[in-house]
Amino acid sequence: MSRLDSFIRRMTAQRDILNHICDTVKELEGPVLELGLGNGRTYDHLRERFPDRRIIAFDRASHAYKSSTPDPENLVIGEIKETAQSFIGINAALVHADIGTGYPEMDAITQTWLPQLAAGLLISEGIVASGLALDHPELTPLPLPKSVKPGRYFLYRRI
Ligand SMILES: C[S@@+](CC[C@H](N)C(=O)[O-])C[C@H]1O[C@@H](n2cnc3c(N)ncnc32)[C@H](O)[C@@H]1O
Repeated sequence: MSRLDSFIRRMTAQRDILNHICDTVKELEGPVLELGLGNGRTYDHLRERFPDRRIIAFDRASHAYKSSTPDPENLVIGEIKETAQSFIGINAALVHADIGTGYPEMDAITQTWLPQLAAGLLISEGIVASGLALDHPELTPLPLPKSVKPGRYFLYRRI
């Protein structure tokens, strides 16, 4: 599969999963956290889906499209492993993490700290959607929408 096809499938999976969990997240209290703002496309989608929710975005640099850049109080710049620590206990309804690189050795390092961080950010019953698998005893895998092939994107609920 070409990298273009792979990218399109990953983005489609991301969108389908976020749409799929939308109603569930709306039943929960708490903010939405976007780990990896990037260009801000997903942030814009989340903003559209959750117009009344505080959405806090994290990235090591601010390089989002201007209209998809959060207000300064909702944009946290720096290494997520460090910056998100002070948000542990914020009781997020949804954490979305799109910080995979496609380089297995780099992603394996992220997977040593991201599961614990995601679990710590979520409210009980909160949802995490991630481009990387998250192995943590408090994160229970949820069924994916039919359109998403297992292993393409990952969805969990915190116990
Ligand atoms: C794949 S892009 C996210 C794309 C985003 N979903 C969008 O709609 O544009 C990943 C982003 O996460 C950021 N990122 C990856 N790992 C990070 C880390 N450990 N700390 C801070 N930012 C990180 C990168 O700088 C990059 O902007």
